[in-house]
Amino acid sequence: IQTHRLNPSASIPASQAQAAQAAELDSDFLEPVHHDLDPVFKPPERLFAGDVPVPHIKSREEYVKLYQESIKAPSVFWSKMASELLEWERPPKFAAQGGYEDGDFSWFDGGLINACVNAVDRHAAATPDKTAIIWESDEPGEHEHISYRRLLIEVSKLANVFKSHGLRKGDHVAIYMPMVPEALYAMLACARLGLVHCVVFAGFSADAVRDRINDCGAKLVITADQGKRGGKVINLKRTVDQALLETPTIEKCLVFRRTGEFNIPFHKGRDLWYHEEVEKARPVCPPEPMHPEDPLFILYTSGSTGKPKGLIHSTGGYMLQTASSFKYIFDYHPSDIYGCMADVGWITGHSYICYGPLTMGATTVVFESIPTYPDAGRFWDCVQTHKITQLYTAPTAIRTLKKFGDEFVTKHDLSSLRVLGSVGEPINPEAWQWYHQVPGRSQCAIVDTYWQTETGSIIMTPLPGAIATKPGSCTVPFFGIEPVIIDATTGAEIKGNDVTGVLALRMHPGGWPSMARTILGDHKRFLDTYFNVYKGYYFTGDGAHRDKDGYYWVRGRVDDVINVSGHRISTSEVESAMIGHPAVAESAVVGIPDDVTGQALAVFVVLKPEFDVPLAPSPEATHHHHIKVDDVKKSMIQHIRQAVGPFAAPKMLFLVPDLPKTRSGKIMRRILRKVGGGEVKSEEQIKELGDLSTLADPGLIPQLVEIVHAKA
Ligand code: WT7
Repeated sequence: IQTHRLNPSASIPASQAQAAQAAELDSDFLEPVHHDLDPVFKPPERLFAGDVPVPHIKSREEYVKLYQESIKAPSVFWSKMASELLEWERPPKFAAQGGYEDGDFSWFDGGLINACVNAVDRHAAATPDKTAIIWESDEPGEHEHISYRRLLIEVSKLANVFKSHGLRKGDHVAIYMPMVPEALYAMLACARLGLVHCVVFAGFSADAVRDRINDCGAKLVITADQGKRGGKVINLKRTVDQALLETPTIEKCLVFRRTGEFNIPFHKGRDLWYHEEVEKARPVCPPEPMHPEDPLFILYTSGSTGKPKGLIHSTGGYMLQTASSFKYIFDYHPSDIYGCMADVGWITGHSYICYGPLTMGATTVVFESIPTYPDAGRFWDCVQTHKITQLYTAPTAIRTLKKFGDEFVTKHDLSSLRVLGSVGEPINPEAWQWYHQVPGRSQCAIVDTYWQTETGSIIMTPLPGAIATKPGSCTVPFFGIEPVIIDATTGAEIKGNDVTGVLALRMHPGGWPSMARTILGDHKRFLDTYFNVYKGYYFTGDGAHRDKDGYYWVRGRVDDVINVSGHRISTSEVESAMIGHPAVAESAVVGIPDDVTGQALAVFVVLKPEFDVPLAPSPEATHHHHIKVDDVKKSMIQHIRQAVGPFAAPKMLFLVPDLPKTRSGKIMRRILRKVGGGEVKSEEQIKELGDLSTLADPGLIPQLVEIVHAKA
């Protein structure tokens, strides 16, 4: 039996697809909520007090005016922005073209531009001594400043290395790196030559690296001997070696020496030391003039079905919207020191560690460590040491640090901070309030930024000097974005305020500049996933509420994507990994609430009949049996870590006699979410699960409840 569900929109016309998709959406995130009594925070007065740079956008009225312009005449709005913020080798002739019908969006046709020139060269010319990157090593107290002048040299040398190994415009390069400046050098060197980079988060397993390399056909992979995180070493090269056993397209593997402590096996003819290659390379390398629609990078993300999607981002539109959003949302000014604590393996790192800040000529922090190493004061120690003005992190980190207590924060001088950003998952009001009051000392603007890998840049957010905030709401749309709430069952747009439904974006010609252009090798999937669900709209996959003031509250995914600590994991990805385990007949993966990680994975497993272990520890169960059950479970968790990555390790794994299914065979995930989350204990609560008459075997539910609680 397979647990994979078919993508309902894959082979049927859009109107039917719409209805089918609506029927698939089965989520608590679509239930109405009310936000009438929420506190409202005005933009901090301190931003206008005169001792810090005055915000770019100073009032709600100013925001509304610009926003209206961006919606009424997107081409005019973005063209103006494009000539203000970017350097063009040849100015574009057109702005927005193409539409959602065929997904042939294009921006700035006729122009020529190089992303690396915009992020590096022009600042190396104008402000050569300005720090481009502050590298904060895993070891506290160890950091390094890299000027724009040096950045240009490092990037040019590496580009020459790529060239010397035969890489040419359009070739694909995989990057599997720890958080060191060389990871950014690699991205920018690719951009310089028109190579398309594909960064794979260094927490992914060998299987995941192999699959991504094979999907994008990378010719070269760049990695490090080891990575360091929170005092632990991670053997990156060893993982890559394992992945490269089955990657026919890889010709070279460039290895950066991060620790030098591990005697890595070198494969003659394939492996090269980064430092040896760069030493031989010339520091000058002409940039390749690129068409604005040429792909800048591929980044894989999880969808609700099937294998990970390699989203392709453009050069011109992506650069424009990451730079402009960085400028306005973080209220960037040239004297700022900006620190995003994410990893370059995710879109946040691409857009808001690398391309956005560097295109604006900012100083950006590359943070190698974790929020709790050596203790829960690490972020604040960084803020104090580097005088960080804008800090950008995720709700998971905020919740974790909150648990350790205020003292780790308050003992540091945080007076440099003006803007505190949050990204990746909904932030609960308690965590928001803490972020605002303790690290923010009630003097910073909190920007809860909502966006996705697909959108390329932030699409809903407050602006520091202009938009009053409410804890837990990402407030209002950024320029060029028109959010709508859709009724999941009818597919119709719900107008007015105080409404809940599916979050979508109304499509304009061209969409918005930084939207992903396609899925590598599967344009049909791109159209079906985002544009054929609700005609005329981009479907986000999230449920949201628009409150009485028109503020948005994103509640979470309504599709089968689970958000664990801001990492997107698809249920089907984990389920297909489970099928590969010899003892598994069938499994279902659901997201359950978790105080720290937002959501966590709970896996329900039906064993193959020949793997006969007692499913619930009964009083008669012997010690021997317990060990056996634990071993089976452990090996399954290990299996998932191996197939997907350690971050996908489930919090709960239950061996169950069967999965709750409708008579037509559809797994009732709503039930598994409730039961797995521990919400259902009594018979009363089982009744509250609602109509179970569609279940093939209603008698199963009490058994599941018993298994879940026996474990707890
Ligand atoms: C999903 C996208 C884009 C940066 C990192 C995540 C959730 C993201 C918020 C927010 C509520 C959020 C959504 C979205 N999400 N930011 N501020 N409030 N939810 O990118 O891996 O593509 O995940 O993250 O569910 O769909 P991603």
